[in-house]
Amino acid sequence: MPKNILVLHASPRLNGNSHTLAETFITGAEAAGNWVKRINVALAKVEPCTACEYCRTHEHQCCQDDDMQKIYPSIIGSDCIVLAAPLYFYDWPAQLKLVIDRLYAFGPQYQIRHKETALLMTAADKDPQAFSGAEKSYELALVDYLQWKDRGRILVNGVNAAGSIQDNPALVEAYKLGFSI
Ligand SMILES: Cc1cc2nc3c(=O)[nH]c(=O)nc-3n(C[C@H](O)[C@H](O)[C@H](O)COP(=O)(O)O)c2cc1C
Repeated sequence: MPKNILVLHASPRLNGNSHTLAETFITGAEAAGNWVKRINVALAKVEPCTACEYCRTHEHQCCQDDDMQKIYPSIIGSDCIVLAAPLYFYDWPAQLKLVIDRLYAFGPQYQIRHKETALLMTAADKDPQAFSGAEKSYELALVDYLQWKDRGRILVNGVNAAGSIQDNPALVEAYKLGFSI
């Protein structure tokens, strides 16, 4: 059955490596009949969670009037949320962390539990261990805590300059993951 897939991309480099990785995944997902929405959270205005707890007494509404108000319904309406990002200082970029922290508004019952997820990342480092911090965050926050089912991870090492991911075999894997999701 076709799925609603939301790709949260987080790179200010608009045609960079994670963009190519995400778009290849999307091409596969759309070829299989899924409906895909993409949001580049690096271009969105998203403020940090202020821990004001307003959401706890206002039916999970966040009081901050920023672009997260458009992202929340996209998350609620998606079956699968895919994170696509470059590695920044051995973790995912702050722009993505801001969005994830703001999911606090859904708690503590988290109506957004039981979705699916996937992780697409690129890094300059040639050592696959470079992704271990980001992968740990993904496992703890999304897979364990939010109970999103991990549908796959494509972590691409050794790509730094924009465009250097072209012809990387990982793009074939990204297409296949998108097609099979
Ligand atoms: C602020 C910043 C921090 C970075 N930190 C890392 C890092 O910790 N490890 C790494 O391998 N690459 C690091 N990089 C390189 C990027 O992860 C790499 O070039 C990636 O492919 C860029 O993807 P993009 O073109 O989609 O932005 C960093 C780049 C920037 C701009």
